[in-house]
Amino acid sequence: MQTVGEIKQIHKIIREQKVNGKKVAFVPTMGNLHAGHISLITKAVEAGDFVVSSVFVNPLQFCEGEDYGEYPRTLKEDQEKLKDAGCDLLFAPPVSEMYPRAKVTNVIAPAEITDTLCGLSRPGHFAGVTTVVTKLFGIVQPDIAVFGKKDFQQLAVIRRMTEDLSLPIEIIGMETVREADGLAMSSRNSFLSEPDRKTAIAISENLKKAKAQIESGNKDFAAIEKSGRAELESVGFVVDYFTVREQATLNNATIDDRKLVILVAAKLGSTRLIDNIDFVL
Ligand code: PAJ
Repeated sequence: MQTVGEIKQIHKIIREQKVNGKKVAFVPTMGNLHAGHISLITKAVEAGDFVVSSVFVNPLQFCEGEDYGEYPRTLKEDQEKLKDAGCDLLFAPPVSEMYPRAKVTNVIAPAEITDTLCGLSRPGHFAGVTTVVTKLFGIVQPDIAVFGKKDFQQLAVIRRMTEDLSLPIEIIGMETVREADGLAMSSRNSFLSEPDRKTAIAISENLKKAKAQIESGNKDFAAIEKSGRAELESVGFVVDYFTVREQATLNNATIDDRKLVILVAAKLGSTRLIDNIDFVL
């Protein structure tokens, strides 16, 4: 696996692959890779002929007071994991290569999908994501791009952006990879103290419980949201949202919706965790 930091060089390698008829599959990341990220690489290996990943901690998507400086940077270990998983090319640019100017052209998805859920507590976050993903798409020119459902809103925003901009890229969403006890894998889990780590399983447990209630015919979403929130608060979480939404629009679910997702964001101490569960009635 080759690691490249220069956009020009990526363009050259991709051109050669495309001339040879290869389908390029892309997995963007911010590094510090775990089994969740690797499952996306495995999918890309299966779906494409030439697999590209990126490791870039994107300053544009960190809001004020967030951990851009502290975000773990583990390039050596990431390279090993990517190589073992079958990645062909890694793009790992410095910030100066991605953003040589102080001001950049921004790509901003409509407020109806970004100014809700995480977009409310992280203003500007999704504009940073759509801007960098558009730029990465321009650099790698993939036929396929693979994202995790762990970041369900991010996936919905990227699908919307790809459609709105008519980008000829198939977006694949992959299931969330979890620890044995159900906690969704995340680099932020390592910030949890030992007791908080145990408490954290309440998120996935309450998501499963809420899903079971809806599947058994309960359509009182407001009551389900209220009790899910209360259960998490009772074990020490500060809950940002516990909410039932329609999968594609992320609008509040109505009793006629069939494709649902229950999303949670909640803090334990200073660690913000997100998770969700999607299902079709
Ligand atoms: P990052 O947080 O590194 O995540 C990279 C990809 O891995 C995302 O598509 C994310 O949804 C997926 N992922 C994370 N945890 C996962 C898990 N437990 N199971 C399955 N997939 C998981 O998301 C970003 O980076 C950035 O916003 C990025 C898209 C790279 C733009 O900067």
